[in-house]
Amino acid sequence: MSLRDRLLTRRRSGSNTTPVGAPADPTPPGPVPAVTTPQQTPVPRTQAATASSGMYGRRIEVEPVSPLDQVKIDLHRKLVERLDLEALEQIPDEKHLNSEIRSVVSELLRQESKPLTVADREDIIEQVLYEITGLGPIEPLFRDLSISDILVNGSKEIYIERAGRLSRVAASFRNDAHLLAVIDRIVSRVGRRVDESSPMVDARLPDGSRVNAIIPPLALDGPVLSIRRFGIDLSIQKLIDNGTLNQKMATIIAGCVAARLNILISGGTGSGKTTLLNAMASFIPADQRIITIEDAAELRLQQDHVVRLETRPPNAEGEGEVTPRDLVKNALRMRPDRIIVGEVRSGEALDMLQAMNTGHEGSMTTIHANSPRDSLARLETMILMSGSNLPDRAMREQISSALDVIIQISRLSDGTRRIVSIVEVTGMEGRVTATQEIFRFKRKGVAPSGEVIGEFETTGVRPSFMEKLHIAGVDVANDIFAEGMTQ
Ligand SMILES: Nc1ncnc2c1ncn2[C@@H]1O[C@H](COP(=O)(O)OP(=O)(O)OP(=O)(O)O)[C@@H](O)[C@H]1O
Ligand SMILES: [Mg+2]
Repeated sequence: MSLRDRLLTRRRSGSNTTPVGAPADPTPPGPVPAVTTPQQTPVPRTQAATASSGMYGRRIEVEPVSPLDQVKIDLHRKLVERLDLEALEQIPDEKHLNSEIRSVVSELLRQESKPLTVADREDIIEQVLYEITGLGPIEPLFRDLSISDILVNGSKEIYIERAGRLSRVAASFRNDAHLLAVIDRIVSRVGRRVDESSPMVDARLPDGSRVNAIIPPLALDGPVLSIRRFGIDLSIQKLIDNGTLNQKMATIIAGCVAARLNILISGGTGSGKTTLLNAMASFIPADQRIITIEDAAELRLQQDHVVRLETRPPNAEGEGEVTPRDLVKNALRMRPDRIIVGEVRSGEALDMLQAMNTGHEGSMTTIHANSPRDSLARLETMILMSGSNLPDRAMREQISSALDVIIQISRLSDGTRRIVSIVEVTGMEGRVTATQEIFRFKRKGVAPSGEVIGEFETTGVRPSFMEKLHIAGVDVANDIFAEGMTQ
């Protein structure tokens, strides 16, 4: 029997294997939820049941569908009825799977009495493919490498970020159940789940993209899906080209990384902290053992010798949690040359600083803060959160002796990312942590187009870490620090 015939064989009754990426059984046993109409995309059983159990506190709306959409929905249902999902599961190669589904869909379409243009037909084939193996209506967005974020606020609102600018797109899901089905497909592929008992989830896709989903009752207006794509290669050279920093700053940063200075990258949400950390990590020599610790592994280091650790949320019984703190402590026993913590948020800040102070120089991390000063204050708060009762002064001494450099990155009003400040931590002055700025981005105004006008400049300060760079054999020409505009 040919593969296509096998695919078209009606699924054996009683089989309940659902291949990854394929919709679940459209007619689950048990009570049929009131919201499931024949028009709907089949919803995985758990979610169909959840939808009916009223956890939303509102009914899932079933929007009227256009005739073309109706053909797609009917076709999708027919396909699921007719495809042998087990045979589908056996096809390991995605291209092959796609072409099989394509030929089956074309055949079913030929039997359709409704007149369809070639474009409609192609559109339907494509959408059915996306439905079966992909992310439904956001699949084309996901494939567009120029899009950095895909933000779905309930079934009808989809926003994207492209080149730093947010805009709304016309695509939409049919209803909340449809969106939930896609969310379920994404997170179950990576071994996570989202349902009434755990209504928020963080996951990482095989391509490194980061996904967060939060559903009702926590999200009030329907399921919310936020995807941060990592398809865009932002090496340090690309960051220089797009104006995030200039060559001189890159030279200094490269020197700091090579000379094992401890570096904190500070910035707001989505300002580019992780991207910068990733790019900066390329300056770590290839012969060093790097251990990365993240909540959802986003970093993609180029070196061979990288050990990636990921935290684990508690299970449904509230057990088994592994915190970044646990992982930092464990990493210290793994003979690391460098420890990179994706982001410090809590008690792990203290362990990280202690590691930086005790022979694990050259460590790097990021922090959510609006200025270098703010990042120092936030570190103090995090140390307090760790349950330590260090007096203020001891805490600041710990911070100032651990940290060498703070790099502040910002997303400006025109969507561009810039390193707005590079600051050296010089020690303590009385009771406070002393810092001095070396580079800054001087804003001069905003062009009528909205573009922020400004330039990078040096402050004229020659950083005291130059000695450390020199000892490490990294020599940087002194004139780099001459005061004024810098290219
Ligand atoms: N320097 C840059 N230039 C252009 N785009 C950038 C730059 N840095 C980051 N981006 C894009 O902005 C998005 C956010 O980047 P990133 O995840 O690095 O930010 P973040 O500050 O770590 O965010 P979060 O606060 O969510 O952790 C990504 O999609 C990335 O591709
Ligand atoms: Mg980040």
